[in-house]
Amino acid sequence: MCGIIGYVGKQKAKPILMEGLKRLEYRGYDSAGLAVLDKAKVKSVRAVGMVVELEKKIAKLDLKGQVGVAHTRWATHGKPSVANSHPHTDCKNKIAVVHNGIIENYLELKKRLSRRGHKFKSETDTEVIVHLIEEERRKVNDLFEAVQRVLPKLVGAYGIAVISEADPDMIVIAKKGSPLLFGVGDDEYIVSSDAAAIISYTKQVVYLNDGEVAKITPKGYQVVEIGQGEVEKESVKISWTQESAQKSGFKHYMLKEIHEQPQAIESAIRGRVDKFIKEGSQTPILGGLAPTKEIRDRLAKIKRIIIVSCGTSYYSGLVGEYMIEEYAGIPVEVETASEFRYRRPVIDENTAILAISQSGETADTLEAIREGKLKGALSLGVVNVVGSTIARETDAGVYNHAGPEIGVASTKAFTSQISILTLITLSLGRQRQMSFVMGKRIAEELKRIPGLVKKTLKKEAEIKKIAKKYGKYDNWLYLGRKYNFPIAMEGALKLKEISYAHAEGYAAGEMKHGPIAMIDSNFPSLFIIPSDSVYEKVVSGVEEIKARGGKVLAIATEGNKEIAKLADDVIYIPKTLEMLTPLLSVVPLQLLAYHIGVSRGYDVDKPRNLAKSVTVE
Ligand code: G6P
Repeated sequence: MCGIIGYVGKQKAKPILMEGLKRLEYRGYDSAGLAVLDKAKVKSVRAVGMVVELEKKIAKLDLKGQVGVAHTRWATHGKPSVANSHPHTDCKNKIAVVHNGIIENYLELKKRLSRRGHKFKSETDTEVIVHLIEEERRKVNDLFEAVQRVLPKLVGAYGIAVISEADPDMIVIAKKGSPLLFGVGDDEYIVSSDAAAIISYTKQVVYLNDGEVAKITPKGYQVVEIGQGEVEKESVKISWTQESAQKSGFKHYMLKEIHEQPQAIESAIRGRVDKFIKEGSQTPILGGLAPTKEIRDRLAKIKRIIIVSCGTSYYSGLVGEYMIEEYAGIPVEVETASEFRYRRPVIDENTAILAISQSGETADTLEAIREGKLKGALSLGVVNVVGSTIARETDAGVYNHAGPEIGVASTKAFTSQISILTLITLSLGRQRQMSFVMGKRIAEELKRIPGLVKKTLKKEAEIKKIAKKYGKYDNWLYLGRKYNFPIAMEGALKLKEISYAHAEGYAAGEMKHGPIAMIDSNFPSLFIIPSDSVYEKVVSGVEEIKARGGKVLAIATEGNKEIAKLADDVIYIPKTLEMLTPLLSVVPLQLLAYHIGVSRGYDVDKPRNLAKSVTVE
């Protein structure tokens, strides 16, 4: 989704902005642009397509300016075109703005501004912001004041960065609903919508909260909360390393992240279960989940959990539902975050709303959690990005510590989320009826999972061959039951996202109520069929597909010879506890999607139309 970079300091802004744009590429975008204050003039260049297109356009321009803003755009209002790309400028090209988010009342504002003589050059919602700033800047002393006067007129979400000829050493930034932060250097500052884009410059960052506006100059920064006055903002240190945000020899981020899963799962459980296993302490250590006595007490009393999330995080939530209900005995519902706010969910103070989000910035998930809080629920988060909005706005939560996930198709965040949900299950279960023996068994098995994932990853060459064989099919059915029903949906999502093949994830038992009608020899079915409590039921499904001439690819437990006779191809995974099988069964599905995507010639790190972090509703 759209990305913002800004720079103010003592170096030339252009190379820093270009580098930042490249680091934002993974988020998904369709055009890019930048504006630099060069010899006291706003110089702006924009291009449709990848950042290299902008690079070509800009190569010969010797921009010396030390202040600038840049943007990658993911079109919402107005098609991808140069005119619609950011930065947008005012009537006289003296002010430039980049914007993430959506201004909902832009049509009304545009009408009024046009009546007052403003000339619009794009179809975007963003452009109204710069014309409003143009008007206000005439009435006040500096850009900082002008922006503060404009923000209350905007309805919707924004992260903005603005520069102006009349305010040569300054960037003004503001946030409401879209992530924005700035890195603190030595007499220099780098603004970004994404911490991963700036860690090569500095790891000290200041996160803006909604409603805050900052003026940044080489000499320092000042932050104001609209209508409330100045606020003290301390910088915090990001622990991610630069290498963790690079490909480290892998062809794609996605492949690197698939292979990072053993470490990601290890990081999710490190220091959290050892004491529990050794000393029989009551629950695993999840400090963030019970930061105060009040929250600990509320958690012990909750009667219901509603998980809200989107995309891949939604599917990990479904696995969490099965685990928590089975082992902690608490009723759980999982709701697509975008649906939650627009109906009338029943919530009370004994309900906990649990947001699962890799980025911690997904707009739908954020709004769902806000809605839950408003109605009195305890709000919890399972979030990977430290300091992100969801992490800051929830009452308590658990960080994944999976490191930056750059691949648009989420992989390591998913298995990390399921690992954390296992720990939450243990924690809530032990506060209730779960015996220590049961808890210990689950915790010990969870500790074995990184090793078992490593073993599964060794199947890559075999999976690559299978991908070649099956890569030609444009339609798939992915089937699983119980804990592996969500994995069927996640596996199908992976295939759709990066190979553009149509795949439907279905509950294996539902297959006979509709999807089976589509089956023929060109429509393969992928069965996730570990040797678990529903194995026999799923085998019947395999038989039914085979009887109708359908091809079957199965993910099964090592040692199962029966399935090899039934299915056309089998990928084996190690044996583990039923509730933990998703952590293994998803791995071949990720690799299969990856290799099918690559064999079809697609750039799997930049799937068309998708964004890593969807910060608009
Ligand atoms: C986007 C991404 C998905 C991701 C989803 C939820 O659609 O492309 O990979 O699963 O957002 O993101 P979150 O950061 O909230 O987990």
